[in-house]
Amino acid sequence: MKTRLTVAILLLAALLGVGLFWASSPTHVDAAALPIHTPDLANGERLYHIGGCISCHHPADDSGADMKLPSGGAPLVTPIGTLYPPNITPDKATGIGAWTDANFVDAVQHGVSPVGAHYVPAFPYVSYGRMKTEDVLDLHAYLMTLPAVSAPRKEDDIPFPWVLRRGVGLWQKMAALPQITEDSSQSAIWNRGAYLVNGPGHCAECHTPRNAMMIMDTDQAFAGGPHPEGRGQVPSLRDLIGRKKYKDAGELADALKQGEEGFYNDLSKGGMAEVQHNISLLPDEDIHAIAEYLSSLK
Ligand code: HEC
Ligand code: HEC
Repeated sequence: MKTRLTVAILLLAALLGVGLFWASSPTHVDAAALPIHTPDLANGERLYHIGGCISCHHPADDSGADMKLPSGGAPLVTPIGTLYPPNITPDKATGIGAWTDANFVDAVQHGVSPVGAHYVPAFPYVSYGRMKTEDVLDLHAYLMTLPAVSAPRKEDDIPFPWVLRRGVGLWQKMAALPQITEDSSQSAIWNRGAYLVNGPGHCAECHTPRNAMMIMDTDQAFAGGPHPEGRGQVPSLRDLIGRKKYKDAGELADALKQGEEGFYNDLSKGGMAEVQHNISLLPDEDIHAIAEYLSSLK
């Protein structure tokens, strides 16, 4: 009797294991289902800046490599360990020069590598997944115009990478967010801002608190909370005007454009200085769109 029970329990456990294994398995986008699209390089460059790719994919300070190119290797310290974001220049051997559009969409929108491994969510693909696929294709085309840098990937310093990556597959299914839809009751500039902030800008990845599963708590969108990289706090972006942090959307746009240089000192710590610098590279109309949307958060 006892052995039968043990066998039954073991069988159940095995089934559950297979179920979890199956549920966590990666899926690839169908290359034939990608939109037919002529890449717009200028748009790709904007997305590269608002996406902040260089902030994580820049080389290590002591590498001697060009800091303006995303050849990777600078340490990114996270609560699970230290990661070394890889080389995303078009080098065929060590970068992403041999990748297809489908490989790129898999990685940036779904967090899945060409060989079907799950990327850890320090790579903010939950937000990037909300981008229009055409925009992701423009971003890919832009990256392919950068000079290729040969820089092999550094080994990450994380425990049990294989188990962890497999577990991330399940997490990805729970953490995925819907694509951003136009709100017809709002202006075009507001909608543009909402898209930049919630999609490529991935502002919520830091400014929205997370639940115990490290999933963004959308009911608390932009309410601020502990820094996801594990140090300090991230402030709320709600009611910035009502709380008299900025006079109006115009001043908020100035702050986003100028940062510390304009004596706006609340945009400098915890990775925000890099975000602010990336925003300052955008055309004015996009900076205003971001400010317009942020000012509406209550
Ligand atoms: C907050 C940090 C961060 C930002 C911002 C970021 N990435 Fe990454 N990225 C990572 C990390 C970390 C990895 C590795 C993840 C892993 O191995 O699980 C990664 C991996 C990748 C990969 C997979 C490369 C490979 O060789 O497997 C691609 C492609 C990529 N990022 C593109 C981008 C693009 C494009 C942007 C800007 C739109 C961007 N990343 C912004 C952290 C970041
Ligand atoms: C890597 C995490 C991170 C990301 C991503 C991020 N922020 Fe921040 N943000 C911070 C931190 C930390 C601060 C506080 C900085 C300080 O105190 O100097 C901050 C401050 C700010 C402030 C000033 C708030 C105040 O009270 O005056 C604004 C505005 C802001 N962020 C907007 C944005 C926008 C827009 C985006 C997306 C394009 C964004 N942030 C993405 C971490 C982040």
